[in-house]
Amino acid sequence: MKLIVISASLAAVALYLTLDSSDAGAVQTPPLTVAQPASSSAGQELYQSFCAACHGTNLEGQANWRERGPDGRLPAPPHDETGHTWHHDRATLFNLTKYGVAEMIGDPDYPTDMPGFLGVLNDQEINEVLDYIQSQWPDEVRVPYEARQAGG
Ligand code: HEC
Repeated sequence: MKLIVISASLAAVALYLTLDSSDAGAVQTPPLTVAQPASSSAGQELYQSFCAACHGTNLEGQANWRERGPDGRLPAPPHDETGHTWHHDRATLFNLTKYGVAEMIGDPDYPTDMPGFLGVLNDQEINEVLDYIQSQWPDEVRVPYEARQAGG
């Protein structure tokens, strides 16, 4: 978590401190999968349909994503290696996507544009999207990440 705290803006620190998997106990532990780049076309399509409008066609996120806008909301962060998606374990990413940020931090009033996809995407589809995102990370990020998720 130290790395995240250092790289995040002060405004974002409080949120991301809470996004540790140890806090995800209230919600569910997903069926874990490890990215299979060759089989990620379904995930790619889902990503483009449901995530790209905010997180970018190429996972690049929105401009100045570390700074809250005038409405107090953060822009969508990149999901590529320049963001901190890969700093979160797979269970946390799954729960963030399924339930949304507000639910994950236990504050329904938290102002955020990140929707929960419960009722929109099923668990398998969420995992396919995450597989796709994961498959886009360069090897030096993806390989150690997958080793950590596998308990290595
Ligand atoms: C309407 C815009 C929007 C859409 C659509 C959207 N997101 Fe987000 N997402 C955001 C914003 C904004 C944040 C930053 C949340 C915050 O802290 O307020 C975010 C944050 C996240 C995070 C946390 C990232 C991190 O580094 O902590 C994950 C994971 C995520 N989104 C996944 C997804 C996935 C997967 C999809 C598609 C299924 C998706 N999002 C669709 C706006 C969106």
